[in-house]
Amino acid sequence: MSSHTYIHDLKQQVGQTVTLKGWVSNKREGKGIVFIVLRDGTGYCQCVITQDNSGENNLNIAQSTALETSVIIQGSVHADEKQIGGVEVQVNQIEIVGESIDYPIAKKEHGIEFLMDQRHLWLRSTRQWAIMKIRNTIIFSIHKYFQSQGFVQMDAPIFTGNACEGTSTLFETDFYGEPAYLSQSGQLYGEAMAMAMGKIYTFGPTFRAEKSKTRRHLSEFWMIEPEMAFYDIFQNMDTIEGMLQAVIKDVLAECSEELKTIGRDTSVLESSLKSFPRMTYDEAVSIIKGEKPVNGIYSIAMLEAELAQTEEKLKSIESEIADKEAKLATPGLKKGEINFMTAKIIQLKQEKSDVEEDLRNIPQWLNSARNFEYGNDFGGSDETVLTKLFDSPVMVYDWPHEVKAFYLKRNPEDTRFARGVDVLAPEGYGEIVGGGERETNVQNLVEKIHEHELPMEAFEWYLDLRRYGSVPHSGFGLGLERLVTWICKLKHVRESIPFPRMYGRLTP
Ligand code: 4AD
Ligand code: MG
Repeated sequence: MSSHTYIHDLKQQVGQTVTLKGWVSNKREGKGIVFIVLRDGTGYCQCVITQDNSGENNLNIAQSTALETSVIIQGSVHADEKQIGGVEVQVNQIEIVGESIDYPIAKKEHGIEFLMDQRHLWLRSTRQWAIMKIRNTIIFSIHKYFQSQGFVQMDAPIFTGNACEGTSTLFETDFYGEPAYLSQSGQLYGEAMAMAMGKIYTFGPTFRAEKSKTRRHLSEFWMIEPEMAFYDIFQNMDTIEGMLQAVIKDVLAECSEELKTIGRDTSVLESSLKSFPRMTYDEAVSIIKGEKPVNGIYSIAMLEAELAQTEEKLKSIESEIADKEAKLATPGLKKGEINFMTAKIIQLKQEKSDVEEDLRNIPQWLNSARNFEYGNDFGGSDETVLTKLFDSPVMVYDWPHEVKAFYLKRNPEDTRFARGVDVLAPEGYGEIVGGGERETNVQNLVEKIHEHELPMEAFEWYLDLRRYGSVPHSGFGLGLERLVTWICKLKHVRESIPFPRMYGRLTP
């Protein structure tokens, strides 16, 4: 039994006296009155300290608190629909647990590098809190889905002797004097375990040296890798869709407050509950190149229209900024008007910079659409062009075998293609899942291992899986942070994980 009440449970405590323990996340003061917004990790609640109700001493203590001071508050709970959480606490007693002097993160805007340096504190902010709650819901939902479908969770090793996804992104480390690599993927071990358990999934950290700064690459990320014996690529796609929809449903049902907090328009999440379009690489390429329409719309026409609209939008934002700045310059404005106008200008400038970014991107997308070369893997812009035409994730399968991993099975009906599948998230997010049906033929695998210049001896055990009771099997890898980033519609993957590790970022 907890010695105090959590804010999340306050609605059931109306009329009671409770003890709350948490941090001052916001404070307003008037004459003889202090309003503290207390946060305790489960929610936020307004606590009122007045001279009359709380007494001089408590009022003094409340006045002395600063942002992020930790406190214990005792008070009575009152229903108040206007307040966050639907209640307000009238304080009888407040006690400081730990003071907080000059908390580095102020309410004003900070640059992203500053906030990343303060990540250990930034995690306390409302927006980051909401993202982490959604991440937690997603993690739990993934486990629930697989456990309810009879999958066995397995942990793959992190020290590995060989590459799984190509050698270029390996982190090398020292294993008792021998070179070892941090795992890029648990898949190969998952395949072994699937031959023992039938259906398994891993849920663990994976590592890739990605020596460039992008919105979607981390050096350390969490991957969920199911592997299923006796599944072909189509059953694999059913599993991917089932899992993603289970997660989206849970997030919509359990995180509506958090989604609101981060300003997520949920319409695309809702439209993702219908079945995902599935198409071959060939079909996807004709859509990207504007040869094949989706619901009557051709990629190039769509992008040209978007470019024209975006140029218009920029003009209108610029004129609005000029208008507001002119108003701000008129003499005799009230303080409230100045504050309002200044805030509006800051907001408009942010919108302007977003629109300007679109204006830099759209020509690149157009370039992708016009000049995509058949046979290539998809880059970020190709994925964007394709997914812009859909309002749910899209599954693309049967890729030219040259651009995909060594372990993928060839399509027996057309051996130019490997039975890989990528799931591309809409709204410009792109790949969140990569997977496929596995090659079962030893000879084909040996050839591929040579072709990819991988050390054969490291893969002998993997070939054994084909020598002893080989069966058709499939699996996939879901990048947890990519999924969180899309579901929360974040601009950058770095906000989707508590402490991101990426090129140029190892602290805090
Ligand atoms: O497509 P990938 O490279 O596939 C594999 O690793 C397979 N072994 C998976 C399997 O079939 N068992 O990676 C899978 C997913 C990507 O779709 C992406 O979501 C994520 O992992 N991912 C990354 N996420 C963040 N940062 C990176 N650097 C990532 N690289 C891949
Ligand atoms: Mg991939």
